[in-house]
Amino acid sequence: MSGPVIIVFGITGDLSKRKLLPALYHLLSQDLLPSDTQIIGISRRPLTTEKLLATVELCVLEKDNICDPEGLARVRNALQTLQLDPKNPSDFEALKHLLDKLDQTHKRERLFYMSVPASAYDPIITNLAAHGLNEQRNRLLLEKPFGHNLKSAGQLLKLVDSAYHESQIYRIDHYLAKETAQNVLAFRMHNPIFMPLWNAEHIQCIHIRALEALSIEERADFYDQTGALRDLIQSHLMQLLAITMMDIPADTSSHAIHRSKAMFLEQLLPADPAEAVRGQYDGYKSEVTDAGSHTETYARLQLEHATERWQGTEIILETGKALSEKTTDIVIEFKNPRERRRNNLTFQIQPNEGIGLGLVVKEPGFENHMRHAALEFSYSQVFAEQQIDAYERVLMDALRGDQALFASDREVLATWRVLDPVLEVWNKNDHGLQPYVKGSEGPPQD
Ligand code: BG6
Repeated sequence: MSGPVIIVFGITGDLSKRKLLPALYHLLSQDLLPSDTQIIGISRRPLTTEKLLATVELCVLEKDNICDPEGLARVRNALQTLQLDPKNPSDFEALKHLLDKLDQTHKRERLFYMSVPASAYDPIITNLAAHGLNEQRNRLLLEKPFGHNLKSAGQLLKLVDSAYHESQIYRIDHYLAKETAQNVLAFRMHNPIFMPLWNAEHIQCIHIRALEALSIEERADFYDQTGALRDLIQSHLMQLLAITMMDIPADTSSHAIHRSKAMFLEQLLPADPAEAVRGQYDGYKSEVTDAGSHTETYARLQLEHATERWQGTEIILETGKALSEKTTDIVIEFKNPRERRRNNLTFQIQPNEGIGLGLVVKEPGFENHMRHAALEFSYSQVFAEQQIDAYERVLMDALRGDQALFASDREVLATWRVLDPVLEVWNKNDHGLQPYVKGSEGPPQD
């Protein structure tokens, strides 16, 4: 069996440089991909293989501080580039010709990786299908955000569905592929002591945060059209919420996991704009072309779930750029009918990956003073193995045909339905947009 062909649209973009190219380098240099794997880097502008290879080296150096020449040589063997205008059918003719040539000895699996904004999907997908590049062995990897709101997500789903079967479609949410995020469901399934407590009778609040110290970097145009709500909440945080609160699936098959997630997300109540907070860091307007931009770089939502199991549990999703630190965590706060202090369970997704259980204990001494103390499990102390990078996992799972760590069509629609009321209000004007200082904790909370 020959190795796959990975065709990357938008190979020179920011996401590709930060995540995808280093992941491809690692997989090839560690022999995790067949040695005859082929990568076709597609770009609208002229791009030589040598130039792309130099970019790979730079990106790997930036990420790891070291780039192994042997690993880079493997990338060189796999890599070629193709200039393509997504609106020009004859460029797709050239792509098809190239792919047919690579099929000479064996038919290869193909992975079309869309590292471009969803607004650019239409001509690419239409042209791929028109050239027969949608038969069963072709898979489509789509980056988030999948759409701009409920309506556009619906249209996009139709477009993609008209060309590819759901089993060929991989909607990426790389947070699901993080080792620590995978442990949320595994933890719930294999630690039955927590099962009876997993409901509104015992859980006061579930707070999920993805705070970033990075600002918008080189993605001004993309970010200004996207904002924090679409960039992180619609995808990553909603997915983390689903795996934290959904009913435990009957088994760990991709189908059962998607069914459970979709059922949970479909019963979230639409977000109330009056409970939503948005902020923008000082100086943002000078980083983007629209000097009057009211795009939020910080968002905080309060949600409710309609089921009896979760009615009354507060749900908070929070994200922001240019904050004091990078941290992603899920904090589950348990009720305590006897006193103010509460137990909590924290899944530290990144960095310092681990799980902590907050207890209330007596301070040593004559008085009966209580205080918080934590039981902590840290990945780095317990496991010698290095964690697999999320993008490496995304690529490997897509090549293996395992959709468990991707988002389904139902999940995508359900998340936009929850966010639409807030998006509608926020799109209108900058009312309530709170400025905050770069490197701070975000807008002041009441
Ligand atoms: C991406 C967002 O999906 O996730 C970026 O578009 C964000 O804005 C990134 O910086 C964060 O990913 P990670 O894995 O570095 O936490």
